[in-house]
Amino acid sequence: MTTSNLRTPALAAVFLLALYLLAAPSLLAQTKAAEEAPEQYPAGEHRDDTFYFCTACHGFKIVAQQGQTRERWNETIDIMTNRHGMVEVQGEQREQMLDYLSKAFPERRAPGGWKNPFER
Ligand code: HEC
Repeated sequence: MTTSNLRTPALAAVFLLALYLLAAPSLLAQTKAAEEAPEQYPAGEHRDDTFYFCTACHGFKIVAQQGQTRERWNETIDIMTNRHGMVEVQGEQREQMLDYLSKAFPERRAPGGWKNPFER
């Protein structure tokens, strides 16, 4: 039928437009997801300060994927300073960061045993 031959390209155009309109916002959402916000991470005192301090150099994801004791977090801060040129943080500010890091990302592994890394 000639009518359907005429209609097909028009329908295809409408379909493509609809696809574009559906895809555009999710493409936008994807670029936005790359930008981090402190709200993506566990709530806690001094979260925002810690977040902004550490994300001066790298994403907070590499911080959040760690689970360590307070002592190990303390060492991590030293490593950032000694190896990566982070400004030295001492005193109250350091304690506050350690408070947040050790509460939000505590050691997850049971001592001496393997634990499913996907289990929290
Ligand atoms: C002056 C820059 C700088 C600052 C500020 C900084 N880091 Fe880092 N950090 C680095 C670099 C460089 C690396 C290694 C390269 C990478 O993985 O991006 C790194 C890696 C890490 C890693 C991964 C270590 C590993 O063995 O995989 C952790 C955890 C980390 N940083 C924690 C922190 C925390 C917590 C803070 C905030 C208290 C912080 N960093 C602030 C520069 C910095």
